[in-house]
Amino acid sequence: MTESGRGKTFFQQGGVAGFTHRAFTKSMGFDDEDMQKPVIGICNTFSEVNNCHRNFRELCEAVKRGVWQAGGFPLEFPTISLGEIYLNPTSMLYRNLAAMDTEEMIRGQPLDGVVLLVNCDKSIAAAMMGAASADLPAILLSGGPMLNGRYRDQILGACTDCRRLTAENQAGTLDDATYHEIEDGIVRSAGHCMVMGTASTMNSICEAMGIALPGNGAIPAVDARRLRLAESAGRRIVTLAKEGVRPSQIMTRDAFHNAISLLCAAGGSTNAFIHLAAVAGRLGIDLPLSLFDEISRKTPLIASLRPAGKYQMEDLYYAGGIPAILKELLPLLRGDAMTVTGKTLAENVQSALIQDNKIIHSLDNPIAPEGGLSVLWGNLAPDGAVIKHAAASANLLQHRGRAVVFQNMDDLSARINDPDLDVEENDVLVLQNVGPIGAPGMPEVGNFPIPGKLLGRGVRDMVRISDARMSGTAFGTIVLHVAPESAIGGPLALVRDGDEIELDVSRRSIILHVDEVELAKRRAGWQPPAPQFERGYGRMYIEHVMQAPQGCDFDFLRGSSPVTATEQPKF
Ligand code: FES
Repeated sequence: MTESGRGKTFFQQGGVAGFTHRAFTKSMGFDDEDMQKPVIGICNTFSEVNNCHRNFRELCEAVKRGVWQAGGFPLEFPTISLGEIYLNPTSMLYRNLAAMDTEEMIRGQPLDGVVLLVNCDKSIAAAMMGAASADLPAILLSGGPMLNGRYRDQILGACTDCRRLTAENQAGTLDDATYHEIEDGIVRSAGHCMVMGTASTMNSICEAMGIALPGNGAIPAVDARRLRLAESAGRRIVTLAKEGVRPSQIMTRDAFHNAISLLCAAGGSTNAFIHLAAVAGRLGIDLPLSLFDEISRKTPLIASLRPAGKYQMEDLYYAGGIPAILKELLPLLRGDAMTVTGKTLAENVQSALIQDNKIIHSLDNPIAPEGGLSVLWGNLAPDGAVIKHAAASANLLQHRGRAVVFQNMDDLSARINDPDLDVEENDVLVLQNVGPIGAPGMPEVGNFPIPGKLLGRGVRDMVRISDARMSGTAFGTIVLHVAPESAIGGPLALVRDGDEIELDVSRRSIILHVDEVELAKRRAGWQPPAPQFERGYGRMYIEHVMQAPQGCDFDFLRGSSPVTATEQPKF
């Protein structure tokens, strides 16, 4: 393994090409000595339309210091930033676009290695996907989680409490003045959402997979140790670039095993099913839903993190962070997996200690004997569906009820709070046409609201089923990612009001109790919804996005095309 030499070739070429490359680079104040060094790209997804990336300017400077210290030549560049709160119709629609941007900018520029600055949900997955396909030495560095939110003496979590408290406000049990006061303190620092939502899950997973340095998952965004981690990443990427250690040598099958194990032990986000499948698809690794379920059954839930548990990322950091969870999990992990530190995962976590066993339990005394996530199969989801049972109501995990069907988001909005809606608390709410193609972009609407008339009666959870995703910060008895989705004629499209649906998480089943003759009749009369995009990126998305078990990647992006030393910008 050796340095790719892309930077050297670029700057030391003869003729007008080399002359131009050096002359234009000198215009930025760099000199010949700088251009002898390995070129390290710092992919900075900073944006003012992405609150989670607020600390990236400072973090990027720390990475640069590290690169200079280790004898590299850092060059910062931007890629698309995906701010969860700001993107319409859903950030997931743009994840693949960001992954293409990342891959092509790594490929197109004369880089020998890259540090990918990520933080908000989809930016992490996009960077992993792009880095996997470009396969140039890479380290992911997250911006870190927010500090705990606060309201007077209460600890709050974004955005688990955003939903809970909004439901209370709508039900009239939380007054408007208090609701607004809470708004001022729930998101009070730089960083990503501080519960074990999707960003916390994916940033922690990067640590378990060895593509990020130890500490990446939980060091708070505003803690000076995050800046020191950034500096270390800058130093370390220079060595990886010199040694030619590529993401495909780090993100191996064993690394995915370790990622899924951490996901289950920490009660992480269901979105990780989709993102990990997409990254694995880039690397030619098969990651069937059955593997997630198999690992979940063998992996105890040992971290008490909201929304499945009681604590948040700041608490987890003081309790030992992700290294302490991984050390406790070692008997279940592939500890020999190599990481970007140059050491194995087991070596990385050797000195980690659990500082608070209310937050990180031991394997001997787990919170639950199995992981917090399950995969369901049945005639309603022939290709699988997912539930985060750790964040569900225990009394609903075995449930049979009458379907109340909403055909799409507009139908849901129009009728969910209708006082005349025919719905009771034991019914099963079904939302159709919110999958990868149907929505499109598979938005996080799987935890759609409880009907207003039941909310007023104190109902806070019901079985809800859809082909959508749900925010990792959400809770409830929510069946997600139903595949194949309804917009391509999956069985979910055939459900009608009054059908009986049975959920049994212990048996991993989701059954529509309608006989096959009746279903065949409905199937024959089914019409696909009209496509929502006629042109542009949206049209490309609809035409090429794959289903949830394949990670919702584009069919033409599966696999990789590793960059080579000879791959150079042409002048
Ligand atoms: Fe970025 Fe929650 S808004 S992680």
